[in-house]
Amino acid sequence: MSDHKKVDEHTGTETTRHEWDDIQELDTPMPRWWINIMYMTIVWSIGYVILMPAIPLLNGYTKGVLDFSDRDRVAVAVEQMHADRSARSQELSNSSINEIIGDDGLYEFAVQQGKTLFGDNCETCHGAGGQGVVGYPNLNDQVWIWGGSFDDIKYSITYGIRAEHDDTRFGSMAAYGRDEILEPAQINDLVQHVLNISGQQADGVSAKRGATLFAENCSSCHGVEGKGTRENGAPNLTDTDWLYGGSAEVIHETIFNGRNGVMPNWNERLSADQIMALSVYVHNELGGGE
Ligand code: HEC
Ligand code: HEC
Repeated sequence: MSDHKKVDEHTGTETTRHEWDDIQELDTPMPRWWINIMYMTIVWSIGYVILMPAIPLLNGYTKGVLDFSDRDRVAVAVEQMHADRSARSQELSNSSINEIIGDDGLYEFAVQQGKTLFGDNCETCHGAGGQGVVGYPNLNDQVWIWGGSFDDIKYSITYGIRAEHDDTRFGSMAAYGRDEILEPAQINDLVQHVLNISGQQADGVSAKRGATLFAENCSSCHGVEGKGTRENGAPNLTDTDWLYGGSAEVIHETIFNGRNGVMPNWNERLSADQIMALSVYVHNELGGGE
């Protein structure tokens, strides 16, 4: 092979001087625009390496003269978010319910936080969405054992019900049968009376005796008409909303063994602003607040 360039006589293009069976390989040059773009990318990458973090080293990496770091940017953003949030939280615990409702941003913040907290802390007992389970009241309806105003709800959440706190809500439904406060026959009469005042089928004669027993034993908490009293946390027995159940068997069980549902006090587990957020959520969003 000679060192001279060979030019293909048909196209005038240089060949690579590779030749197989008389077929020659042309050495067509790269298009100019393509070469230019390649030079530009080289220049750009050199610039990038100088300015930005680029090359991994044994310990760390080249930082670049701009000293740019995604990690730092995220850290700053997170810090900012915490600052915003704690300012919001501060505002929340220092505001009244009316101030919160009047401030769309603060209200939205409270509801979002309340919803998350409710899912994390309350749904295990009160059911998904707070719709209640036997023994654990529905928090969506208009029926409240201890009261449905904002302050009542906040108090229930803060100090709990029959919880281990001096200010907890307290009222006890005694075990009239198990503790032999009443005779079995008297309990049967009371069951008939409760069936009667809640609008269910009852034995009239037995219910009548039950009414007298009710006035003597039960009305101090459940009220003369059995409509319940919130000071004692004694439910209304005349409606169709039952905490434990309204069948004869369950009513008998309630009177015989007593009931004392426990709701923990949250003031030792949650902060003031978290309790505020939960109260707003339960009172205003779950929909049964008074
Ligand atoms: C360990 C179970 C349990 C958990 C967890 C729980 N509760 Fe309760 N809660 C109860 C019980 C039981 C009652 C009803 C007590 C009674 O019988 O009077 C109740 C009652 C209430 C009441 C009063 C309802 C009324 O009708 O007056 C409110 C409000 C309430 N809970 C809110 C919450 C919130 C908010 C949370 C989450 C921070 C929560 N609860 C978590 C068991 C629980
Ligand atoms: C010292 C107050 C007090 C007295 C007296 C009392 N109760 Fe109760 N009763 C309660 C409380 C508090 C509850 C709710 C317990 C709970 O939430 O766990 C309750 C619950 C009930 C329930 C369950 C209601 C439901 O929704 O499932 C029935 C039924 C009932 N009482 C009947 C009676 C009868 C009948 C008597 C009289 C023999 C009586 N109570 C006396 C406080 C009282």
